[in-house]
Amino acid sequence: MIARILILLSGVLILASCQSDSTRRNTADAQIEKRIDELISRMTVEEKIGQTNQLTVYGTTEELCEKIRNGEIGSLLNVVDPADINTLQRAAVEQSRLGIPLLIARDVIHGFRTVFPIPLGQAATFDPALVEQGARIAAIEASAAGIRWTFSPMLDISRDPRWGRIAESAGEDPCLTSAMGAAMVKGYQGEGADDPTSVAACAKHFVGYGASESGRDYNSTNLTERQLRNVYLPPFEQAVRSGAMTLMTSFNDNDGIPSTGNRFLLEEVLRNEWGFDGMVVTDWNSAGEMVSHGFAADTKDAAMKAINAGVDMDMMSHVFSLHLEDLIDEGTVDEQRLDEAVRNILRVKFRLGLFENPYIDTARIARVTYAPEHLEAARRTAEESAVLLRNEGGILPLDASALRSVLVAGPMADAPAEQLGTWTFDGEPDHTVTPLAAIRAAYGDRLRIGYNPVAAYSREKVTAAKLAAFTAQAASYDAILLFVGEEAILSGEAHCLADLNLQGSQSELIAAARRSGKPVVTVVMAGRPLTIARDLANTDALLYSFHPGTMGGPALIDLIFGNAVPSGKLPVTFPVATGQIPIYYARNMTGRPAAGNELLLDEIPVGAGQTSLGCTSYHLDAGFGPLFPFGFGLSYTTFKYADLQLDKETYLPTETIRASCRLTNTGKRTATEVVQLYVRDRVGSTVRPVKELKAFDRITLEPGQSRTVEFELPAEDLAFWGLDMQKRVEPGTFDLWIAGDSQSGNSVTFTIN
Ligand code: NOJ
Repeated sequence: MIARILILLSGVLILASCQSDSTRRNTADAQIEKRIDELISRMTVEEKIGQTNQLTVYGTTEELCEKIRNGEIGSLLNVVDPADINTLQRAAVEQSRLGIPLLIARDVIHGFRTVFPIPLGQAATFDPALVEQGARIAAIEASAAGIRWTFSPMLDISRDPRWGRIAESAGEDPCLTSAMGAAMVKGYQGEGADDPTSVAACAKHFVGYGASESGRDYNSTNLTERQLRNVYLPPFEQAVRSGAMTLMTSFNDNDGIPSTGNRFLLEEVLRNEWGFDGMVVTDWNSAGEMVSHGFAADTKDAAMKAINAGVDMDMMSHVFSLHLEDLIDEGTVDEQRLDEAVRNILRVKFRLGLFENPYIDTARIARVTYAPEHLEAARRTAEESAVLLRNEGGILPLDASALRSVLVAGPMADAPAEQLGTWTFDGEPDHTVTPLAAIRAAYGDRLRIGYNPVAAYSREKVTAAKLAAFTAQAASYDAILLFVGEEAILSGEAHCLADLNLQGSQSELIAAARRSGKPVVTVVMAGRPLTIARDLANTDALLYSFHPGTMGGPALIDLIFGNAVPSGKLPVTFPVATGQIPIYYARNMTGRPAAGNELLLDEIPVGAGQTSLGCTSYHLDAGFGPLFPFGFGLSYTTFKYADLQLDKETYLPTETIRASCRLTNTGKRTATEVVQLYVRDRVGSTVRPVKELKAFDRITLEPGQSRTVEFELPAEDLAFWGLDMQKRVEPGTFDLWIAGDSQSGNSVTFTIN
């Protein structure tokens, strides 16, 4: 169900939502279904199998055209030249027997040419409307190149920053991920799927992939059905409700069953429970990889298991084109299942209007790429996605008029390709504005701006002599701006880490800046949360920017000099140490929770008795808490939360809880606060999380201004899959917080009868 927020603004009601306000599920179109039936009745088994076959471009265009004319390919990925796409499409539409258009796909993950912050950064905005706009822009640019299907949004709940693909996710929380996913689906698909700028979304990776053991990509997961249903599946269900036209199976096996062969997930949950009528595609070769898993004896067995589980299209393992015909002849695959797969594929092609408008206007791409409004949206998203984690003595924002010189340093200060982050096949470093370029453009005429990367790239180890020279250089400037972090290659698919400290000599670089005695401002640009505890002590301010994309430079420089105020909040918990992972706020309550005053390693008396430390749940070296909790982020102002109230004390499961608080901007700058509503179900038929985010919104207030923020939370949103594996609201006592992060604030209590 939908958690809604009502904000009373001088008598005006503004509606926002945690999940999705308007569901846009596709409704069956009788006309389309008739056309599909008619087409299928004319198709040979070979032509049907051809539709289920997705290939990446290879060889010459003529070689591909030959296969397309024969009806052997239903979809192509990784072709991005509009003229080539028109040629290939012509082979399908005008030269194949049935004239079925191709579906052209590409990984457009956080922008096409105009690159937006990585999805983890977009999630830090807590701003679904802005994220929807970013996806719309990505679709406008990508569709101009001829792409009508993107493999996004990635909806994997990611509670392990070692996993490189956390960069592509919306972080650790089901509510936030659902909201971001729904926003992206709407943005990509636009107002009408058959609009030429609409791009079919693909909710991926179905499912559990983010829980891979030890944060190592492609590794196994072991999630129970209850965990899947309460945590990992909701964002996918929301994406389906929001009209996502396609869905991708994940690489992992969960509890021994690879997703591509998991009939329970693909048939039971997706089709029967959620009523999904779109298309299911495998991940790249994930059908074939069921052989490596040892779940299928050979590629023929893999084809049989994938199609019978409910897969419609095979991405790049060729197992359907190689074996489906034999499997049907032998009777191990029913031709009706193949028909159903083809029906799901054709439905997407019809909905996209490809039969009516198969070709692209090749002049469009030049008109839309890097349009000023696209760059402006990317800049704003980068600005909203940066999270201020430290600001000692209010050193930020810097007052440019009070400075004469600034030293810009670090390997990420002028690294256009690196700041784009992972999955930017089509983003162009030449069009990327780095922090160095941005500060020179904005302040070059007023400030003496020095530049010294010290390390050429994030992993480079530099000598002590080089660091000492840097300290000496820094001492001759009024302030030091350090840009550190991770190169793009260090996160994303297959790029996992076991150690999350800053790479190379970057921590030493921050320490060297500190030794200059000058104010140090550090910006971290990374694809994941890094363990920055030791670095915080050496910097006056720290702004965390998940790889910010094309316009990252101007956005960060605006934040640093106060032309913009940070409003991003962490979409994922930051650990103190890697050994705490997985660490996330919505953990279950243990039988022996830490009290918070436990002794740490250095405080434990030598020879202390076995039980003298209290026997609670914490790490002797890292303690219990995170470095920064989910939802945390500072501003250049301060906000006060007061008067937390509910409209009643007791509710029926069918009623709506109205909660409100008074939010005041107690500082000196106009700023935006991400207001977050959390709930705890005190006693359940199974152990419940200590807190769960249920709603959020961004509220902008001027200095001294107060506003009542009122949330409407349907009690149905408290439902969960309990002991009997039924989803329901269990009567009992609940705590509710409205706060600025997942760890602060007072609570009120209510009961559900
Ligand atoms: C593999 C990745 O897991 C998936 O996310 C991506 O969409 C496909 N390759 C296609 O490139």
